[in-house]
Amino acid sequence: MLSSSLSGSLLYRLAVIVAVAGLFSLIAMFAWTSPLTACLSSNKSGSIREHIVKNNSLVEAVVDKPVLLLWVWPENYRFSLSDCKTIYNIDGCHLTDNRSLYNNSDAVLLFHKGISLSSLPKSPRPPFQKWIWMNVESPHNTRKFPGTSNLFNLTLSYREDSDIPVRSRLISRKIPDENFEIPKKEKLVCWIVSNKAKYTGAGIREAYFQELSKYVKVEVYGKAYGTFLDYKNYFPTIASCKFYLSFENSIHKDYITEKLNGPLSVGTVPVVLGPPRKNYERFIPGDSFIHVNDFPDAKALAEYLTRLDQDEEAYRKYFNWRRYFSARPHLILKNQEFVLAICTACEYVGRHREYKQIPDIYEWFFN
Ligand SMILES: *[C@@H]1O[C@H](CO)[C@@H](O)[C@H](O)[C@H]1NC(C)=O
Ligand SMILES: *[C@@H]1O[C@H](CO)[C@@H](O)[C@H](O)[C@H]1NC(C)=O
Ligand SMILES: *[C@@H]1O[C@H](CO)[C@@H](O)[C@H](O)[C@H]1NC(C)=O
Ligand SMILES: *[C@@H]1O[C@H](CO)[C@@H](O)[C@H](O)[C@H]1NC(C)=O
Ligand SMILES: *[C@@H]1O[C@H](CO)[C@@H](O)[C@H](O)[C@H]1NC(C)=O
Repeated sequence: MLSSSLSGSLLYRLAVIVAVAGLFSLIAMFAWTSPLTACLSSNKSGSIREHIVKNNSLVEAVVDKPVLLLWVWPENYRFSLSDCKTIYNIDGCHLTDNRSLYNNSDAVLLFHKGISLSSLPKSPRPPFQKWIWMNVESPHNTRKFPGTSNLFNLTLSYREDSDIPVRSRLISRKIPDENFEIPKKEKLVCWIVSNKAKYTGAGIREAYFQELSKYVKVEVYGKAYGTFLDYKNYFPTIASCKFYLSFENSIHKDYITEKLNGPLSVGTVPVVLGPPRKNYERFIPGDSFIHVNDFPDAKALAEYLTRLDQDEEAYRKYFNWRRYFSARPHLILKNQEFVLAICTACEYVGRHREYKQIPDIYEWFFN
């Protein structure tokens, strides 16, 4: 799930490395000649030795990794602080939940739902410290709390124009994979859905599903229909279906969630309901999915799916993209819901030190 944008292009990495190396030479020169030497060489908690590229060769140098303070655990879903390294190989920051490191934290991650004025850090903010606004829900399911103006420096959300956009992304292959086999299919259309509460915006997909089920059988799993699916059956169940309904709970630009990644990662064709097709095609190839808007109504979609069920060759075409790209299964345990977002923040603060501020988070998010 470590995205191509996370790993970045080689050029970009080199640019960062060269910039960092340059900075260190400057600091080193400064340290030699300045009375501040003692201060600069004092051990900030994050100092470690690492390999960096300098003068075109690999050298060992002290790299000061920024400290990222998780102010609250989102929804109180805790995971091991070393997971970013072990799961995504992200090691760009020192992640901590120890509030006594506040004065030394380069960035503080604040989970929107957990924010209230009384729960924000109280000590004065060190001038170098950035506050990150973290929100994984769509505007439809985001409450406005007062007092968030002139607080934040960075945004983290599903939106691509966030400072720290978060999503599972396809990974490109250099060597085409010719060996993909479509998993054995036992069902035609499946849907796992945990919520059909109208106030969350889920009324649209619910109505579409009701209409679709008049014309084609949809196997439904999940809390919304009282058939809880065990975590260990999540991917195998999706894999056993020819089509999977990747229906978002509300429709917003870029709001394309793990509901899409599930079928892509196991070899099932997603049928998507969400923002327009063009928006999906920013993230996945146009021939890898079916969009409900490709059809005048649910009946026409049902007929198409039924036809594809009989046409092996046409169905197979939906997997052509797999020669050049792969999708990694996302984390599905409840306490893992925010691991990718938090680790992506870690990756970001490890690379960026530039000044930023967001006067009005809501003006950006809701407009
Ligand atoms: C930094 O830490 C090292 C050992 O980790 C120690 O030898 C050194 O004296 C420390 N430097 C300062 C300025 O505290
Ligand atoms: C950089 O590397 C070149 C070739 O290895 C060497 O001649 C030169 O002295 C190096 N420069 C510095 C500043 O280390
Ligand atoms: C938090 O950090 C402080 C200062 O470094 C340390 O004394 C304390 O033991 C830490 N607490 C935890 C729970 O790690
Ligand atoms: C941070 O520093 C301020 C003084 O600038 C101090 O009042 C406060 O107690 C410190 N906070 C922590 C968590 O160490
Ligand atoms: C972070 O944002 C605050 C408030 O908008 C601003 O005062 C501060 O200078 C910013 N700091 C950095 C390091 O970007």
